[in-house]
Amino acid sequence: MPIQIVPSGEEPTGISCDALVIGAVKSDGSPRLVDGDALDQALDGQLSEYLNATNFKANVGEMVEVPTLGRLPASSLVVVGLGAASEVDPSVLRRASGTVGRRLAERKTIATTLSRGAGADGASAAAEGFILGSYRFTVHKSDPKPSSLERVSLLGDVSEQTIEHARARAEATILARDLTNEPASSIYPQSLAQRAKDLADVAGFECTIFGEKELAEKGFGGILGVAQGSEKPPRFIQMRYRPSDPQGFVILVGKGITFDSGGLSLKDAKSMEQMKTDMAGAAAVIGAMSAMKKLNVKVEVLGLVSSSENLPSGTAIKPGDVLVHYGGQTAEVNNTDAEGRLVLADAIAFACEQQPDAILDIATLTGAIMVALGAKATGFFSNNDDLAREIDAAAQTAGERFWRMPIYDDYRKDLDSEVADIKNSGPRYGGAIMGALYLKDFVKNDVPWAHLDIAGPSRAESDYDEVSRGGTGVATRTLLAWVEGRGR
Ligand code: BES
Ligand code: MN
Ligand code: ZN
Repeated sequence: MPIQIVPSGEEPTGISCDALVIGAVKSDGSPRLVDGDALDQALDGQLSEYLNATNFKANVGEMVEVPTLGRLPASSLVVVGLGAASEVDPSVLRRASGTVGRRLAERKTIATTLSRGAGADGASAAAEGFILGSYRFTVHKSDPKPSSLERVSLLGDVSEQTIEHARARAEATILARDLTNEPASSIYPQSLAQRAKDLADVAGFECTIFGEKELAEKGFGGILGVAQGSEKPPRFIQMRYRPSDPQGFVILVGKGITFDSGGLSLKDAKSMEQMKTDMAGAAAVIGAMSAMKKLNVKVEVLGLVSSSENLPSGTAIKPGDVLVHYGGQTAEVNNTDAEGRLVLADAIAFACEQQPDAILDIATLTGAIMVALGAKATGFFSNNDDLAREIDAAAQTAGERFWRMPIYDDYRKDLDSEVADIKNSGPRYGGAIMGALYLKDFVKNDVPWAHLDIAGPSRAESDYDEVSRGGTGVATRTLLAWVEGRGR
């Protein structure tokens, strides 16, 4: 059952619920309740006394709960930290609400003042936080223990549309999480394509799938090469959202490797363990496509997903093999584990033919990006400074940590091949840049392009903020914020 999020004009001292959530900030080093004086008075000042006694610091997401023992209609007061008063923004509200949504999952009804005076962006972020924080992937549990949370009342002047849009963004993220968390036995190229197809009517986009026959006819040699080792055939998924009177046209490309064993350049057991999540880029694109219509996006968006398994077998692509990408450029495959760039290069070349205003690709491309930035940041690359600024701004709006990486063109010579136009892997140092350089060779006509390497944040080892353990749905909301910002 999805959580209901409702606006409420009630006063905090008058609303009845299982838990009333209020914020506290740090000011001059000590915690201060936000909008909490009337509540503190109703408890004869015992709330602030208790906070002092428990050494509460008001760090973001820090929580203290006090029972009201009948002195207020709310059964308990939950104080959640929002960090430094000067730094409170929608992202902080999303993070704090995420933690609260998870920690209060056993309650049925919550009300919060976090939305009061927070503006549409703040209220939206809080709503997203509650929905995302209480997410759990329980599909394969025999005793699922779902969250009991039924209703969150956002106090203050919050519009229905703000809530509807927040819900669309959060549910898009949840769809991406669900797809990412499913094992490779249930999400493989055909079933992923079927999921996109099933979504098309409800979400308001058109879906076309290329199977092996079309891929061969049209020369998608990268996708076919990677798929060669698997019993399961590849799919190229095309999802087109077209508003009336579009204000532009952009393309999103997702890496959809539903399992990455490395192929003949086989990964070790530890590195392979989580490789069902190697389609997180595809999940972000499909997630984003699911919300275009609900968010009333003004630009036309084509979502492309190159989907394949990467397995070793007697028919698998071998190190040293040469393949011909869509459009005719050739590649020597010196490492079959650098398969993401092979399936993406076809899609990027295909995308450039459609003459979009911009192309974004989203991929769990390299372990090296995690060495550079750690597991909680997306590294992105772009051939265009304006586009890079748009992406920075979109990530900021979405509350996702993005960091722009350089593309050093002189490093491209390390991908020179003796036998083909390019080889798919180079030196270990600067591995994330090498991945970006490979893709850049397929960007034509100076189309503004950005490559989002989400290998790190696509999966979380543990819960934090609005992010839950496992597939995170990262980049879904940044993609949405980006398309929402275009055509305005
Ligand atoms: N899917 C992996 C990248 C990855 C690693 C994602 C860890 C998430 C966590 C990708 O296909 C890969 O294997 N990349 C290689 C590239 C190398 C062979 C040039 C890598 O990072 O080692
Ligand atoms: Mn790989
Ligand atoms: Zn991979």
